[in-house]
Amino acid sequence: MLAIGLMSGTSLDAVDVAVVEFAGDGCDLLHYQQFPIPDSLQSALKAVGPHTPIGQMLDLDAGVGALFALCATEAIQACGVDPAKIGVVGSHGQTLLHSPQPATRNSLQVGDANRIAWATRIRTVSDFRRMDMAAGGQGAPLAPAFHAWRFRSPQVTRVIINIGGIANISILPPRSEKAVCGFDTGPGNTLLDQWIQRHQGMHFDHHGEWAASGSPNTELLAALKSETYFGAAPPKSTGRDLFNLGWLEKLAGAVLNALPPADVQATLLELTAGTIASAVETHAHAAVEAFVCGGGAHNKRLMARMADLMTPVKVGSTDDLGIPPDAVEAMMIAWLAWCRVEGVPANLPSVTGAERPVLMGAIYEPLQKPQATSPKEK
Ligand SMILES: Nc1ncnc2c1ncn2[C@@H]1O[C@H](COP(=O)(O)OP(=O)(O)O)[C@@H](O)[C@H]1O
Ligand SMILES: [Mg+2]
Repeated sequence: MLAIGLMSGTSLDAVDVAVVEFAGDGCDLLHYQQFPIPDSLQSALKAVGPHTPIGQMLDLDAGVGALFALCATEAIQACGVDPAKIGVVGSHGQTLLHSPQPATRNSLQVGDANRIAWATRIRTVSDFRRMDMAAGGQGAPLAPAFHAWRFRSPQVTRVIINIGGIANISILPPRSEKAVCGFDTGPGNTLLDQWIQRHQGMHFDHHGEWAASGSPNTELLAALKSETYFGAAPPKSTGRDLFNLGWLEKLAGAVLNALPPADVQATLLELTAGTIASAVETHAHAAVEAFVCGGGAHNKRLMARMADLMTPVKVGSTDDLGIPPDAVEAMMIAWLAWCRVEGVPANLPSVTGAERPVLMGAIYEPLQKPQATSPKEK
């Protein structure tokens, strides 16, 4: 079966589209494409907060749905496969809020899947997180289940590190009877992106070059590492709701203002690399090799710091495993959609904390089956 995965993460940098072929217990990436998010939509999404009017939220739901629908149809054309062979489209949507604490347990992704199903005329699956939440889980991270399915090594403990806006790790022991562990480690690129945006008006720090022009500040780093999230035991997941410039100011406002902005950037890079490395050290003693995916895999400075801090674990990118780092998350969404239509539970209770494995995602059917009759005609 062919499946499409549509993904846009917390970075809001692009919509990622993967066309994937599933056969037996394997899959192949047939096509991968990134589509820009129009500036106006991007800023409206970034501006969402607790007081955003409901009408505006619905506009965003429709706007993201329409954009994802366009991305899917253009990717199908560019890929050249027969649309009739595509069994399902999976759409993650754009997260506006992720609140996994037991008292709230909610997560909101917008991007009306009805519009995607209608535009593509392909069955679409969306809302992947909330059945796990209903079953007592955090609905996140979703990726470890796919990483375990696709990347597990028969011989050694392997770690997959996804560095998007937020970073998450999957610890994959070699034997299938051992449970997979996975959680969000904290900030990936998000603080680096937000800080350079504020000071240089750029979307991201190319290869960490600006960070490399400064020096990490020990006092600032210690203040940021005092965040309780870093020491909390898994299951745990987080988002930009926690890690943002307001968080930075709250923990270290005075130090922050006294430092050259490039030193702050250097410290933030150290924070990302250091919190990932210490999560691996604490929770993956047996790790032999780690493979990075997500946009952070392109940041040469960040990759070099992680390789230093994680020695003797060998650090590479998922390119070494045959999958481009940018495509992994969209492939994961295609896999989730495929699991849903195949009736296969795709959450890992050992990762999310759910009571049991559940079917993830709601199905949107664009067309009536030929034999179906309307209630009136019965
Ligand atoms: N060449 C690069 N140098 C440094 N950072 C990069 C580079 N390419 C991408 N990135 C980072 O990756 C981010 C996008 O990563 P992505 O995995 O798409 O995150 P998300 O899942 O949150 O959308 C960008 O915002 C940027 O911070
Ligand atoms: Mg992205």
